[in-house]
Amino acid sequence: MTEKRVPVALVSGGSRGIGRAVVLRLAADGYDVSFCYQSNEQAALELEKEAGELGGRALAVRADVTDAASVKDWVARTESDLGPIDVAVCSAGITRDNPLLLMSDEDWHNVLDTNLDGVYHVCRSVIFEMMKRKSGTIINVSSVAGVHGNATQSNYSASKAGIIGFSKALAKEVGRYNIRANVVAPGFIETDMTAELSDKVKKDAAKQIALRRFGRAEEVADLVAYLASDRAGYITGSVFQIDGGITI
Ligand code: NAI
Repeated sequence: MTEKRVPVALVSGGSRGIGRAVVLRLAADGYDVSFCYQSNEQAALELEKEAGELGGRALAVRADVTDAASVKDWVARTESDLGPIDVAVCSAGITRDNPLLLMSDEDWHNVLDTNLDGVYHVCRSVIFEMMKRKSGTIINVSSVAGVHGNATQSNYSASKAGIIGFSKALAKEVGRYNIRANVVAPGFIETDMTAELSDKVKKDAAKQIALRRFGRAEEVADLVAYLASDRAGYITGSVFQIDGGITI
């Protein structure tokens, strides 16, 4: 009898926040996990160790999602060290908020390059092997801003709406290869990204949330883990808001 292969997951932006929680959750679920980090090598190595202690193998690789070659190298390293990629999660993302009137070209392009091109680079790099193996799952992290738009976030909202269109198109394209592509659209989640907000903004935001609190990265990771699993085998091209009811 041949032994069942340990599934392999790839997580962009894995060293922090939601990506980090996804790395730990998938490692606990029995995946070998490869994640990329941008600059904080120490945090990445600590996470590599922590995830590795959960049972499977963990691999931290420095990569910049805005750079196609860097992402290709990360994917190639993952495939050679851990094996074929079963699950790809795109969580890397940035904000550079400003009203459109004050938006700089640089902030516009940086956000689009990271959030949207970054998803394209990762998906483009994993898709051929998934198609060859007729198996794979992609989960892209968008935002409620991508579904509903957010004032002062025209760049971010455009990038996150782009991820939704991209993922739906991809789901239609590769469904016949038994590849699923879904989107998770969080509301306010407690991470470094929202730590930047002033106390007043956080307080006002919480009032708009039915559950009256920000979400936890682990709660988003739970949804990602479900979508990655066979339990979600008939779900593709869908957008899942996880926002405590901020948009109802
Ligand atoms: P975070 O700021 O804690 O982490 C973002 C991660 O992306 C970091 O590890 C960072 O190194 C990585 N990253 C950024 N640019 C990169 C690049 N060029 N190459 C490689 N990695 C890069 O943010 P958080 O909160 O964990 O966000 C994760 C995802 O969730 C993002 O896509 C964000 O837009 C989305 N999101 C977050 C929400 C929140 O309230 N925290 C709400 C809705 C969506």
